[in-house]
Amino acid sequence: MAENNITKIVSFCRRRGFIFGGSEIYGGLSSVWDYGPLGAIIKKKIKDIWWKTYVEEKEDIVGLDSSIIMTEGVFKASGHLDNFADWLIDCPWCKRRYRIDKIEKIDKDLYKCPDCKKDIDAAKNKPRQFNLMFKTNTSATEDNPYYAYLRPETAQGIFINFTNVLNTTHRKLPLGIAQIGKAFRNEVTTGNFIFRMKEFEQMEIEYFVHPDQAQKYYEYWVDERFKFYTEKMGLNKEKLRRRQHSKDELAHYAKACTDIEFNFPFGWSELEGIANRGDFDLTQHSRVSKKDLAYFDNATKQKFIPYVIEPSAGVDRTFFSIICDSYHEEEVKGKIRVVLKLKPNLAPYKIAIFPLLKNKPELVSLAKNLFYDIKNKLPAFYDDTGAIGKLYRRQDEIGTPFCVTVDVDSLTDKKVTIRDRDTMQQERVAIDEVFNFVDNKLG
Ligand code: GAP
Repeated sequence: MAENNITKIVSFCRRRGFIFGGSEIYGGLSSVWDYGPLGAIIKKKIKDIWWKTYVEEKEDIVGLDSSIIMTEGVFKASGHLDNFADWLIDCPWCKRRYRIDKIEKIDKDLYKCPDCKKDIDAAKNKPRQFNLMFKTNTSATEDNPYYAYLRPETAQGIFINFTNVLNTTHRKLPLGIAQIGKAFRNEVTTGNFIFRMKEFEQMEIEYFVHPDQAQKYYEYWVDERFKFYTEKMGLNKEKLRRRQHSKDELAHYAKACTDIEFNFPFGWSELEGIANRGDFDLTQHSRVSKKDLAYFDNATKQKFIPYVIEPSAGVDRTFFSIICDSYHEEEVKGKIRVVLKLKPNLAPYKIAIFPLLKNKPELVSLAKNLFYDIKNKLPAFYDDTGAIGKLYRRQDEIGTPFCVTVDVDSLTDKKVTIRDRDTMQQERVAIDEVFNFVDNKLG
């Protein structure tokens, strides 16, 4: 299918239990989504692969798990209290609120309401700034509040722990600190499914380097992260591109930034940003906290504030791009087959096992024994709740690479039929060899 439109993807994700609306039975909560059983598995796999690639396999990166709630000082220093805001305008006719940079300007001070299509006069309906952070009271009483904020990026937890990590791990630069975790933004522009949510998850690395090496590592991380999406997430290269930010679109902390964009159903949009944050954050936190966050290089006897290169990825956008890229509709014998051509490392189940006839106890028992045997070695699924064609279709839709059918002949020849998700080719394989066969093909 050439155009995976968004409505189709959303209803597919709901129908197969990948993603549900947030607070749904109470009427829903805008831009908040819950991951269902299969969505939760894929999401966890994305995070596990990222963590393994960077924290476990690289020598110069350590992990961190900092808190979501942080004190006001953190965000005063980081600039989020002053700068992390959108300009919003209210439509006087339909009373809806919009980000002014996202709606059509039709003349000086005149905008078109995207919903009721009437004119909004910005001279009369003055745009107002709206901070995106969620504020919360951490004191036990309402009359003596102590305000804190839910982090809008995981990064700040890394910066404020920079010296803790250095002192406890005795590492030298270059050093990366990696973190996966939730971030919160009271986003006003909504829609586009899980692309822009109020609660989402990030996978961020703050890579601390000597300022002279910042450009080299910035280029390294842009290439490295691009490769991650094609090689580890299986995304089609044609649907990915790099886009460098112009000076006027840079975030308040960034010296340079390159987005890796994916061609989503609604067009090219940011999947990840790789920024050169310079020494902005550590300088700011040193100044506001009055703690010395400079690094001392024992070899050169030089003391300096490191520069930071930040590859910042969204778990949810990665998930979204994987679903969009792998969703296919194919015509098979006059019917549409929906197949999720996931890279096998991301598939919730690697193998599904069915008895051809569920009313034959010997077949059911043979199939179940095979399932229990394989299940300890590979994520496997057993199903006998439908006709074989239906069982294949269900597994195609959730991306299971191999389906195994146990039939009457299996009782005598001790062989089963293995069907490949993508080619639909079938092969007869000895029961004892099923695990090796699938394991070899999965690579
Ligand atoms: N620490 C840098 C930072 O947070 P960002 O470009 O604002 O930079 C990084 O966010 C990534 O986090 C984005 O590329 C995107 O994948 C994800 N992200 C940001 N806001 C999001 C939102 N509201 N919903 C879902 N993902 C979001």
